[in-house]
Amino acid sequence: MTLNNLCVLGGGGFVGSHLVPLLAARGHRVVVPARRRERVKHLLVLPGVEVVEADIHDPAALQTLFAGMDGVINLVGILHETRAGGFQRAHVELPRKVLAACAASGARRLLHMSALGADANSKSRYQQSKSEGEALVRAARDIATTVFRPSVVFGPGDRFLTLFADLLRRAPVVPLAGADACFQPVFVGDVARAFADALERSHCHGQAYDLCGPSVYTLAELVRLTAATLGLRRRVLPLGTTASYWFARLMELKPGARIMTRDNHYAMQSDNVCTRNRARPFGAATPLESVIGYLKEAGPRRDYMDFRRHAGR
Ligand SMILES: NC(=O)c1ccc[n+]([C@@H]2O[C@H](COP(=O)([O-])OP(=O)(O)OC[C@H]3O[C@@H](n4cnc5c(N)ncnc54)[C@H](OP(=O)(O)O)[C@@H]3O)[C@@H](O)[C@H]2O)c1
Repeated sequence: MTLNNLCVLGGGGFVGSHLVPLLAARGHRVVVPARRRERVKHLLVLPGVEVVEADIHDPAALQTLFAGMDGVINLVGILHETRAGGFQRAHVELPRKVLAACAASGARRLLHMSALGADANSKSRYQQSKSEGEALVRAARDIATTVFRPSVVFGPGDRFLTLFADLLRRAPVVPLAGADACFQPVFVGDVARAFADALERSHCHGQAYDLCGPSVYTLAELVRLTAATLGLRRRVLPLGTTASYWFARLMELKPGARIMTRDNHYAMQSDNVCTRNRARPFGAATPLESVIGYLKEAGPRRDYMDFRRHAGR
């Protein structure tokens, strides 16, 4: 299957900002729809990449975007709802519209970003809705699909370790909800490579892949590793389950960008680690310790991501 022309939904986000340059470097022509073009300036300079303003929730706009596309990559996702029904809209309704627009426009390949822990029975709406969206994609016929389910993703521009780095820089003591929750963080470069490789491999059609790094950490261990990387001596105060719930509730009432919600608390009740795909079909996984130095680096991109995070965008 020749896949010259690709449309990457959510291509301006953290994962997309690593994936789109890789796709362009491999010779794909990439179209990235964005809600606001100026927010994805960093992609405009890439040869073979076009950024267009579009409302991807409008089925007609989606069909126009997909016309002439050989494949579509859907990275759209949110961790916090800013209004009721946000998870449903981004994780279920959008994949449904994407499938319909692929069918109408003749796009033959779809890569879909789900999440490790996606579970129809979870108390977390994030995990429930990710599961529903993933099920729609996996049930699709007449299109070659591949689903990816990463644990938490780290790398330059991430929102997870960078958020803790910000908190640690500001506070001598960090109360930590979900301190014992386990994660198997995966490097964004490895996630991008898995997507790009999957496009080239027909045996990935119809498959779903969990993506994890080489090691499992508790959240407390990740926060302490972040502090050590930044050369900061900080006290991490692990909160128990009940205290974590109330901490999340309190954070929901805080004005400004969301950093934690009760939905995140529910999601952290089960470990976010890989139990399948141990064979690493997309090659060796990058250890967190070998790249974590990016947290020390400042620069325009980091300032931009900080600005977006603080603005809740
Ligand atoms: N990062 C992780 O640790 C992690 C772990 C597991 C799974 N994932 C999944 O991986 C995907 C990419 O994550 P990421 O970290 O790159 O997230 P991100 O930086 O927040 O990027 C998400 C992208 O989706 C777009 N988007 C979100 N809601 C939208 C909406 N309602 N309408 C249109 N566009 C919308 C954003 O557009 P704007 O730029 O306009 O906001 C952005 O381009 C998501 O599906 C996420 O659930 C991420």
